[in-house]
Amino acid sequence: MRLDKFLAHHGFGTRKEVKSLIKKGFVSVNENIVKVDKVHVDPYHDVIKVNNELIEYEENVYYMLNKPAGYVSATEDQIHPTVIDLIDDYHPDLFPVGRLDIDTEGLLIITNDGHLAHQLLSPKKHCSKIYYARIKGIVTQDDVDLFLKGIVIDNNYQCQSAYLKILTTYQDESEVEIEIFEGKFHQIKKMFLSIGKEVLYLKRIQMKQLILDESLQLGEYRRITDEELYRLKQ
Ligand code: URA
Repeated sequence: MRLDKFLAHHGFGTRKEVKSLIKKGFVSVNENIVKVDKVHVDPYHDVIKVNNELIEYEENVYYMLNKPAGYVSATEDQIHPTVIDLIDDYHPDLFPVGRLDIDTEGLLIITNDGHLAHQLLSPKKHCSKIYYARIKGIVTQDDVDLFLKGIVIDNNYQCQSAYLKILTTYQDESEVEIEIFEGKFHQIKKMFLSIGKEVLYLKRIQMKQLILDESLQLGEYRRITDEELYRLKQ
């Protein structure tokens, strides 16, 4: 991995700011001052210091991505770009926590922490996920009640209770928020289909306590803060 990238990802500023740190002689690798930013380092074995302070290599990283449509929630794909293509990071083992459909936008956690992913995705944990959706048709209080009772999808699968909140209805469309506690394939689209309505737009806005940072434009991401991570792990 390039030294400038290593430092940028450990919070020493933008790639440009980091290059300037290196040029000014603040950075050493294995006790030798390095003034060339293109130098490659081995983050697992090299001793990298800034201003004589050792920089510990971070084993696990956690990002919140505002997923745009058109990207698949996978690490590799033959046809479409993947959400991992959006992340400029040196960790080779990053993956998305769960899946959003190719046309779904919003909150996706990207990490290399398999344990956390398991905790969040395990059906036994009933982890809450909240989506904003635009629906073709008028969503009614009867629909809210049906979602609460448990919608049947895939012919015979009875979904757990879901909380549907009607935000607005106009002409032949509705805006809603829906909270589910499981993650079946195309679950929300199928739940609406089973009540004869179509999802026109879907965006995940929250997963457990983690709320999508609205300052992130589509395709942008940021580190999950220590406090956010602490709450995610509860
Ligand atoms: N439910 C869906 O139908 N699609 C998603 O992307 C997420 C939940």
